[in-house]
Amino acid sequence: MVPKTTFSTEIGSCILFTASSIAVAYVLKKLKQYVQSREILGNSKSNATAQEDTEEERKNLIELMERRKPSALWNTAMFFPDFSASEKDSTTQQFLWYFGQATTSIRICIYNFSFPELEQVLSEQYERGLIVQFIVGHESTAAKLRLKCLPCGTLPKDPTLPATDKLMHHKFAIIDDEAVLTGSMNWTIEGILSNKENICVSTNPKHVQRYLEEFSHLLGICETAKTFY
Ligand SMILES: *[C@@H]1O[C@H](CO)[C@@H](O)[C@H](O)[C@H]1NC(C)=O
Ligand SMILES: *[C@@H]1O[C@H](CO)[C@@H](O)[C@H](O)[C@H]1NC(C)=O
Ligand SMILES: *[C@@H]1O[C@H](CO)[C@@H](O)[C@H](O)[C@H]1NC(C)=O
Repeated sequence: MVPKTTFSTEIGSCILFTASSIAVAYVLKKLKQYVQSREILGNSKSNATAQEDTEEERKNLIELMERRKPSALWNTAMFFPDFSASEKDSTTQQFLWYFGQATTSIRICIYNFSFPELEQVLSEQYERGLIVQFIVGHESTAAKLRLKCLPCGTLPKDPTLPATDKLMHHKFAIIDDEAVLTGSMNWTIEGILSNKENICVSTNPKHVQRYLEEFSHLLGICETAKTFY
């Protein structure tokens, strides 16, 4: 039995939360059930069988996540720029690697985007049939991405904020609805090569869940939601 996910935003022909997120929602639900069962059982040893069962189940879930996104690689931080050419190359390659590893979806929320190498990886992933979605802060950025057929909504201003001049200034990506990449860096060549910048990577289900909620919320208020295909 597959539980229904709480996200069901549909934009044109693009149905947001698909098989992979249902799988994740299932894992999250199982983890929640596990936590709840632990809370109910407390530290009591009165039902050893039940405890062993949930312990086994928890181990299986952790192993499943570990196989999909090994924590040594997916719970880390990257720092830019690196000062030797080879290191710079390796950090940029590592950043790109995460997007190449995606198997079902890449959802990106970023004010500006001008990073040809990443554009290339995302185009290839999109052509392979992955869901690739952008929310950007400027119509000119959106227009460039749509030229490459990358689905994109724009949110120059958040209509739910009282001050109308506040920008959508996020910088995050959600990969396979299982990992989040976020940090200080503008995803532009200048941002990657010039400043001290950081990117944090996490598969913590609570982090991922919050970013998915934010992405879903922003998608719902995208000014150009109708052209988001
Ligand atoms: C112990 O756990 C099993 C499996 O979850 C359950 O079927 C059983 O009713 C529980 N027994 C008690 C005494 O709680
Ligand atoms: C986005 O970044 C590019 C490259 O740095 C720059 O040329 C462009 O003006 C920026 N666009 C916006 C809307 O800030
Ligand atoms: C990063 O982007 C913001 C706009 O989103 C811009 O104001 C800022 O100057 C950029 N920083 C760098 C280092 O490119």
